[in-house]
Amino acid sequence: MSTSVLQHPLLLAVAVSLCVYSAVCLPGDLIIQHSQSYDGGLCLNLVEPWGYNCVEHTTETNDGFLLGLQHVSSGIVNSGVEKALPVLLLHGLFMGGDAWFMDSPNQSLGFILADHGFDVWVGNVRGTKWSHGHSSLSDGDKEFWDWSWQEMALYDLEAMLSYINSKTDSKVFVVGHSQGTIMSLAAFTQPDIVNMVEAAALLSPISYLDHITSKFVLNLVNLHLDETLSLLGIHQLNLKSNILTNILEMACDGGRADCSDMLAAITGENCCFNSSRVDFYLEYEPHPSSLKNLKHLFQMIRKGTFAKYDYGTLKNVLQYGQTKPPAFDLSLIPESLPIWMAYGGNDALGDVVDVQHTLKELRSKPQVLFLEDYGHVDFLLSTRAYEDLYDNMIRFFRSCGNGISSSS
Ligand SMILES: *[C@@H]1O[C@H](CO)[C@@H](O)[C@H](O)[C@H]1NC(C)=O
Ligand SMILES: *[C@@H]1O[C@H](CO)[C@@H](O)[C@H](O)[C@H]1NC(C)=O
Repeated sequence: MSTSVLQHPLLLAVAVSLCVYSAVCLPGDLIIQHSQSYDGGLCLNLVEPWGYNCVEHTTETNDGFLLGLQHVSSGIVNSGVEKALPVLLLHGLFMGGDAWFMDSPNQSLGFILADHGFDVWVGNVRGTKWSHGHSSLSDGDKEFWDWSWQEMALYDLEAMLSYINSKTDSKVFVVGHSQGTIMSLAAFTQPDIVNMVEAAALLSPISYLDHITSKFVLNLVNLHLDETLSLLGIHQLNLKSNILTNILEMACDGGRADCSDMLAAITGENCCFNSSRVDFYLEYEPHPSSLKNLKHLFQMIRKGTFAKYDYGTLKNVLQYGQTKPPAFDLSLIPESLPIWMAYGGNDALGDVVDVQHTLKELRSKPQVLFLEDYGHVDFLLSTRAYEDLYDNMIRFFRSCGNGISSSS
């Protein structure tokens, strides 16, 4: 495998330029060490300034990761006797829990849910800025980055739901965006996890990825960027590092994708996104992830499967007792789990064909909202998201919360 990688002229160009740009060919992890840290965490930076109550929590996964969770409630006094319904927000790839609080309270879902009386819990998956490391590993260790969305599904989501479950004594509503939906759909095939969930709302739902139209991403897949980075000894993917910024620029020049508008090239044309806010968003995004996660996503694109990580035949046998990685079988998600989905006609990552594939394999018939002009990022950052979809989502949640009236 590695020889074919090195024989590929484009790849070689990428590898060489990496070394040139980064001045010395250091192993990636030595170059990439400036992940930011904010004093005071997510609550202090993005939630409290708007007058909302926000408390930082930490939960530990069964494999030792310490995940930050924020608990947000509205400043508006809840006069009712009704107990607020807990809802967990699961952000996308290269994002963190901050993604739900990027704009004003009447545009951002985290605030909107709190204002509608929900008990809002904000998830932050392993490796992101708001999660707090590991019980025994440091982020300089290669082992610290040895995971993909599979572990986010089976460990992170399990830990978050168990924690909220124990604090609230209630099943939890789950909202996911993009990677947050991949991990949700995988986790919901596991009875012990799905039993903690009341209902789910999936924004830009993804389980299959073989019809993505993002030229930029397809370029990186065809360039075997994942294998190249592996050869360079990189484990952590920090898009804010010089090395990866340079690769992304290379992929634009080397490939034919139109990168004049990088975000559109990656995610699709977003109808309703306020581009004058990009500089502010970039103060928080992108968050780090692992190279193994990228490899797993690229496997999905190349093979059209929704399955566990593919280690190659021999190691698969050791890991899984079979030559191919086991699939996450969507038909195992209980029919009784209420699901709501919103997807877009301009979403270059969550393609309509792939969404139909997901829908076909589910036993239940989710409520579906199709927004023709929405791209991938609109589901999070559209200036009209409340009118276009959050309002609809909240009505769905109210309709399945047992015994909860929609009076407030
Ligand atoms: C919220 O939306 C209203 C109109 O829908 C607008 O007038 C107001 O300025 C917005 N508030 C904030 C804080 O953006
Ligand atoms: C877009 O962002 C700018 C800068 O933050 C802001 O002044 C403007 O009100 C925003 N527009 C909308 C429609 O939210």
